Parts: sequence; structure tokens; C-alpha cells
Amino acid sequence: MATAFNFDLTATDGAARTGVIATPRGTIRTPAFMPVGTAGTVKAMLPDSVAATGADIVLGNTYHLMLRPGAERVARLGGLHRFMNWERPILTDSGGFQVMSLAALRKLTEQGVTFKSHIDGSRHELTPERSMEIQRLLGSDIVMCFDECPALPASDEEVARAMRLSMRWAERSKAAFGDRPGHALFGIMQGGVNRALREESAEALKAIGFDGYAVGGLAVGEGQAAMFGVLDYAPGFLPADKPRYLMGVGKPEDIVGAVARGIDMMDCVLPTRSGRTGQVFTRRGALNIKNARHQDDPRPIDETCTCPACRSYSRAYLHHVFRSQEIIASMLLTWHNLHYYQEIMAGMRAAIAEGRFAGWQADFHALRAEGDI
Ligand code: GUN
Ligand code: ZN
Repeated sequence: MATAFNFDLTATDGAARTGVIATPRGTIRTPAFMPVGTAGTVKAMLPDSVAATGADIVLGNTYHLMLRPGAERVARLGGLHRFMNWERPILTDSGGFQVMSLAALRKLTEQGVTFKSHIDGSRHELTPERSMEIQRLLGSDIVMCFDECPALPASDEEVARAMRLSMRWAERSKAAFGDRPGHALFGIMQGGVNRALREESAEALKAIGFDGYAVGGLAVGEGQAAMFGVLDYAPGFLPADKPRYLMGVGKPEDIVGAVARGIDMMDCVLPTRSGRTGQVFTRRGALNIKNARHQDDPRPIDETCTCPACRSYSRAYLHHVFRSQEIIASMLLTWHNLHYYQEIMAGMRAAIAEGRFAGWQADFHALRAEGDI
């Protein structure tokens, strides 16, 4: 029989946790950072290269894949893993969040959302039931409930309405998902920056029962202090023996702060998108390779980094290919950023396992305070 979906918490250090998620497609070491492969590709990276950075799982998007090339087509072609040549675990987001940020003429009802495609203007509907069907057709290993995430700032009434609708949709998502051994369904907590609403959302999700629990509705304009404020209590409302996933976060400092507060999984477009705009993340903070100060610099981005960009190329070369809009600039800078993010995750996992996470965090912040040299 195939491995069931299972989470083993192996060590904790303060609120920080490390463990392993087992799935039939492989294991996911937590805390885990999941590169975003929205349209069936982690942009500018081959799948083997994504794995070489240390990623155990990538994220795909219901919204993009349903519009192009279509979930039924992907299923006919053998599912998303085979289609994109990534045989390890895939988590798919459920679509509602992307509809709200990308689609036109959105109409939200109790039933679901109707909208016009941002690609060709065609009309579509997403409901909890259709989102579960699409994620099943894609073959996703970790399926997300269909939810509504309001943009902040929003009134408490608006945040409460969206959260309660999301909880009714969570119940419909669970019923439509059914029983699928080896596949997991995660609930998504909403409630904005309101503690009582967060607690009500967590209670509703726990009553339904999920394989893992996401903290949604953050990194939507509230700022880091407000986000950390929510993360000071929200993970504690969730079951300790299930993975906790913070959606759409974030900068390196956000990720470290989230793990310190009990988060196990994260995803963000930042390392990949920034790679394509010249923004590079290092142990000493962020820099932009297009800045003229790099044009004569023979040093790598980071002498201690073992990624292909740092092993074989100077800042001057990366500056040149970026300025020249050469494709290799996106490839190398994306690779470096993903490598750096995975290095942070590996460093945190080891530090938590060895009970020295506070010291690791202090070193992480001290080096950033020194800045690029
Ligand atoms: N991505 C970032 N935040 C969210 C959220 O609240 N819900 C969903 N479905 N995806 C997200
Ligand atoms: Zn590097």
C-alpha cells in the first residue's frame, strides 16, 4: 500500500518546530519553503535545478491551470506531475485568492465566484466543488480549501463575513474532497488581524477536521508588525500535530519570524519574481544587480554561496547579462535566490533540531545589520 499522508514533528525549540511530512511522492522536510510554479513551471528553472536548490515540494495554481491549459487536458496528459516533469510533491492553491487579484468582473455569491479570465476574457465559475475537482484532475498532493481572502485594510464586518463564508466553503470543500488516501486537504484560517475572528475560524476548521491548517489572509497589506502580531497567537489555535502553512510569505525576515512563531510551511513568488527583476537576496540583505556599483565588481554575489551563479560568475557578469536582458540573467538570479531561501530553511531545521534556534536567529539578524560589503 502507498504511504499515507503523515506529519511527524521531530523537535521543537520555543514555538519553532521541525519535522517531516511523508507523502507517496516523497518527504517534505519542515520548516519547508515551497517555490511557486504557478503555470506548471518554476519560472526560469528546470525541475532538477529546483530540486538541487533543496526544495522538496512546489506550488501550483488552480486559477492559472484551469484557464490554460485546462485541468481536464492536464489530466488526460497524465496529471500535473508528469506534465511539468516534477515527480515530487505538489501543493495547489484553490483559486479564489488568484481570482480576486487577477480576474475581471468578479461576482461573489454563497455558491462561489464567477469571473472573466485575465487571459482571454472568457467566463468561468469556481466553487468549492469545482476547485476540489480541478485539484483532483491536476493530481495535487496537498489540496487547499476554496476560500475568500479579503484585502486589508477591511472593516471587522467585512473580515467576519469573508471568514464565515470561507468556513462554510471549507465544509463544502471537505465533503467534495471525500476520502483520498495519500492526498491531503488543508483548511485555511481567515479573520484578518482580529484575534476573536481568528479563533472562531480555527475552531470551525478543527470541528471539520483537516490534514493540515493554513494561515491565510496575511501579507495582504497589513505590514510585518501586524502579521507577526497575528502569528504570535494564531498558530497556537491550531492542532500541534498537524502542519501549519503560512500562505504567500515572504521576505527572508518574514519567513524566519514565522518559523519562530510556529509555522511549518511557506510559499512566495519573491525569490523567483525578484530573480527576474534583478533583486538578489543574500545573508547580508537584498541588493539589485542592475545597480551601476556592480559593473566592475569581479566578486560573486556571495563568496560563501555554492549556487551556480556564485560559483562561476562575477557580479559584473550578472550585471551585464541582466542589463542586456539575456535569459541567463533570470536563470542564474532565480537559482541563487531559491538556493539562498533553501539554505535559510536548512539552517533553521538544523538549529531547531539541536535546540539552538535563538542563537541562529541572532546570527541571521546580525549579518543583515552589517549589510552588503
Ligand atoms: N495566498 C496567500 N494568501 C492566501 C489566502 O488567504 N487564501 C488562499 N487560498 N491563497 C492565499
Ligand atoms: Zn548564490
